[in-house]
Amino acid sequence: MNKTRKIGLVVVAAFTVCVVAVFAKFHKSETKQKNSIKIGVSIYESNDTFVDLMVDSMEEKAKKYELETGIKVNLDVSSAKESQRTQNEQIKRYISLNYDVICVNLVDRTNASTIIDAAMDKNIPIVFFNREPVAEDIFRWENIYYVGTDAKATAVLQGQILIDAYNKNPEMLDKNGDGKLQYVMLEGEMGHQDSIIRTEWSVQTLIDYGMPMEKIESAVANWQRNQGAALMEQWINTYGKEIEVVLCNNDDMALGVCDSLAKANIEDIAVVGIDATQAGVKAVEEGKLLGTVDCNAAKQGETIFDIAAGIWADGSVPNNVKLENERYFRAPLIKVTK
Ligand code: BGC
Ligand code: CA
Repeated sequence: MNKTRKIGLVVVAAFTVCVVAVFAKFHKSETKQKNSIKIGVSIYESNDTFVDLMVDSMEEKAKKYELETGIKVNLDVSSAKESQRTQNEQIKRYISLNYDVICVNLVDRTNASTIIDAAMDKNIPIVFFNREPVAEDIFRWENIYYVGTDAKATAVLQGQILIDAYNKNPEMLDKNGDGKLQYVMLEGEMGHQDSIIRTEWSVQTLIDYGMPMEKIESAVANWQRNQGAALMEQWINTYGKEIEVVLCNNDDMALGVCDSLAKANIEDIAVVGIDATQAGVKAVEEGKLLGTVDCNAAKQGETIFDIAAGIWADGSVPNNVKLENERYFRAPLIKVTK
């Protein structure tokens, strides 16, 4: 063998050793990484019954997943305390700590771009939930998903609960017999898609059916039971039994209304909610609420986890998760009445 050939062989051999070593190292860190998943969750505030239900369900699903796969799940939940700036910081922290997926319940749904920019930059998928970013944000990148409800469908079902009740017993709703429903409306939150669309479509569903509606008052109670109770107390004092129906964008506010009605000893005003929280369903069973719409918080929470774990494991959403427009999961809905 001549000298150059010999050197050539040594170089090839050394190169091969290097390639194998690098590959082995890469492979090792790859499998090591795949033994545990880090999911960072940020919610808009920590005092929201429905969002808490979704988070509880994510946590349960994470435990199940650990048991089934042996993969360790770190699910970190932080509350943004209603500050978009705080939420942006929380997400940046997750990103700097190499979280695998981030799940975001936006404070301000029109303000997703800082989070999207930061996540895209480090190639970390995002699952938004419950507070829906605009479509332009969702479609900025293929690793952005949304889990929530179809806001209009929830409202149409809420309207139908009242239509069904009217058809069964018109006097129960139209107590003054003027052929119209005098109503008050409790809205969730300015700017929230569920609030805007539910407020419009619950009433519109009744109007489209041919039921004339007369609005007495409407106000924002921030999804909260105590705020709903306070507003209802004022309205009872001002309008008393002129009010025939109370439409609420969610169950917590509807429960607040029930609290004030009970305090005033009023039993014959029809109240409807949306969510089907545990307390909401109980109030329906007890006849305090005429009805609610089951938005399946548990299914939504599970699905957030399934999407996160799926894209982390092999870059794709599991087949059992049926997406709309490849990016949206909307929970199936059911009317809940006695
Ligand atoms: C739910 C409310 C909840 C809100 C929070 C809505 O979809 O119906 O109960 O407070 O989301 O963003
Ligand atoms: Ca009437």
